[in-house]
Amino acid sequence: MPRTASKKSSSSSKSASKSKSGSTSSRSNGTSRSAATGSRSGATSRAGAASGRAGSSSPTSRNRGASKEVMPGSMLHEFFMDSLKDIYWAEKALVKALPKMAKNATSEDLRSAFEDHRLVTETQVERLEQVFEMMGKKAQAKKCPAMQGLIEETNEVIEETEDDTYTRDCALIVSAQKAEHYEIATYGSLVTLARAMGHSEAADLLQETLDEEKETDELLTQIAEGHINEEALSEGSGDDDEEEGEDEAAETEEEEK
Ligand SMILES: [Fe+2]
Ligand SMILES: [Fe+2]
Repeated sequence: MPRTASKKSSSSSKSASKSKSGSTSSRSNGTSRSAATGSRSGATSRAGAASGRAGSSSPTSRNRGASKEVMPGSMLHEFFMDSLKDIYWAEKALVKALPKMAKNATSEDLRSAFEDHRLVTETQVERLEQVFEMMGKKAQAKKCPAMQGLIEETNEVIEETEDDTYTRDCALIVSAQKAEHYEIATYGSLVTLARAMGHSEAADLLQETLDEEKETDELLTQIAEGHINEEALSEGSGDDDEEEGEDEAAETEEEEK
């Protein structure tokens, strides 16, 4: 349902003035310190440890120096191809999920971040098809239960939060960053494995996607810390300055979704 008119497009200017007061970081004691929206402080580096590139002690990164080409038929090659199929399914699922996330975002900057990331994700799908081609295979998707679960969880938070609230945006950012961190871990490991197996061209392509996922994760943190966490903190229970009957209307809207 079109809700553009009711979107809080004034949020950026409102938040800009709030940010100037310097209160954002000190008062965002909720989401911004969480693993998701506060990723600069913790979550990303932990994801990086799993992804190889940023963590020199991970099992996959120890093989970084190797350049022996691992041929089709080996167990490692099969594992690598299987992981490609998994992330190929996950990316395609995200292309379908991101429009719903954009539509349900309250803030314009978050909505456009999701819309932009859908376009980026389409490119990532094509890039994976190129990687399959380099490996002499046709692109094939294999259901990724992890991403399926993360997308289900996203749908749940949309149902459980009210329309046009910044709490909804916080919840969407948390969900989106869970997905980004899964992708960062996956691509980090794939890059390291591809290099270890001697597939340097494939590794370069996968690295491009890894960089994009990290940029998206950082952008989401910036949006959260820029104004959304702060706005959400002042929303309270939603009863104080809301018009009468809004809750009822929100419930009806949810049923229609
Ligand atoms: Fe992606
Ligand atoms: Fe992504």
